[in-house]
Amino acid sequence: MKILVTGGCGFIGSHTVCELLDNDYEVVIIDNLSNSKIEVIDKIKRITNKEVYFYEGNVQDKDLLQRIFKENTIDGVIHFAGLKAVGESVKVPLMYYCNNIDSTLTLLEVMSECNCKNIVFSSSATVYGVQDTPKYVETMDRGKSSSPYGETKAIIEKILEDLYTSDPTFKITILRYFNPVGAHKSGLIGENPNGIPNNLMPYILKVAVHELPELTIFGNDYDTPDGTCIRDYIHVVDLAKGHIKALEHAHNHEPNIYTYNLGSGHGVSVGEMVTAFEKANNLKLNYKYGARREGDLPEYYADPSKALRELGWKTEESLEDMCKDSYHFITMEKGE
Ligand code: NAD
Ligand code: UFG
Repeated sequence: MKILVTGGCGFIGSHTVCELLDNDYEVVIIDNLSNSKIEVIDKIKRITNKEVYFYEGNVQDKDLLQRIFKENTIDGVIHFAGLKAVGESVKVPLMYYCNNIDSTLTLLEVMSECNCKNIVFSSSATVYGVQDTPKYVETMDRGKSSSPYGETKAIIEKILEDLYTSDPTFKITILRYFNPVGAHKSGLIGENPNGIPNNLMPYILKVAVHELPELTIFGNDYDTPDGTCIRDYIHVVDLAKGHIKALEHAHNHEPNIYTYNLGSGHGVSVGEMVTAFEKANNLKLNYKYGARREGDLPEYYADPSKALRELGWKTEESLEDMCKDSYHFITMEKGE
């Protein structure tokens, strides 16, 4: 089977491409490299010893998509391409709506035209918004989005639902990721954003390798056991494997719209993450407590039981693995 992976040079996309190739799928990537580097393609080839086809371009470019579908027999699409920085989306909402939604509409139009009706979409736990309980389950309604970024995910989920209603021959799988961290065991691919990171693990890594002086823990006065926020961190390789399971499930089932949480089911506080990172890598992190970050929820984690029941998927990597693999990657990047 040949899979088109949009955003396949990015953090989650590159790990998923490796899993696809390891599982004997053929892979075509489209990425405009707006948040990734071309070197990733060679690294994927080094890791897997397999060929991967790459088109540099924007998923909003309909002509390019049509050319890709003409030049390749695409059996399914995994749609990662999108902008993902929550804070930035508040500052430049139009760029987020335009990039994330327009690219999805263009992709779906071309898929319909080419009769390719199997898509896996990267959604996010953020679509749950604020709920009465911290344990998010797929039967809950989508909540109020806390950012334009989150709103793009909620809108795309709705677009996919409407598409399925209009054309029930589509197989649509919506995967709601919790907090992906970690890196490939090879240390060749991982997440190393340019500039000052927004997310916890990339920030910890920059402090660990002395590129930034100290981590600020955003708030220690939440109603949680240690006062810091609780999230469900998931190793990116476990997450990547979830996509293979989603494709297999779609292949073996009738067209429908399927939605799954991909998370570990365990909440970990920011304080616990810092301690786990120090222990796993035998180092000390400079950190201080600061004010709460606007928009942060105190606590949420996945109920991942539907993914286990229907996809046969669950996380395997521990918090220690996430911390070790992330640090291994950043030290390799820096050539240490
Ligand atoms: P990433 O930024 O590392 O990867 C996204 C890739 O898409 C990048 O390589 C970027 O260059 C590319 N891209 C963006 N817009 C494009 C466009 N219009 N055309 C072509 N390429 C484009 O992000 P990631 O962490 O790998 O996330 C992948 C997907 O998962 C995104 O849709 C993101 O919103 C979603 N997601 C991520 C997280 C997270 O915490 N990392 C959580 C939930 C959901
Ligand atoms: N945090 C800090 N200091 C930092 C960075 C983060 O204390 O420098 C804390 C945050 O306050 C939060 C926790 O670490 O409590 C995790 O923050 P992240 O920014 O790493 O992740 P979020 O949970 O805010 O959001 C992430 C993705 C979103 C996605 C969401 C889904 O960034 O794209 O998970 O759950 F929508």
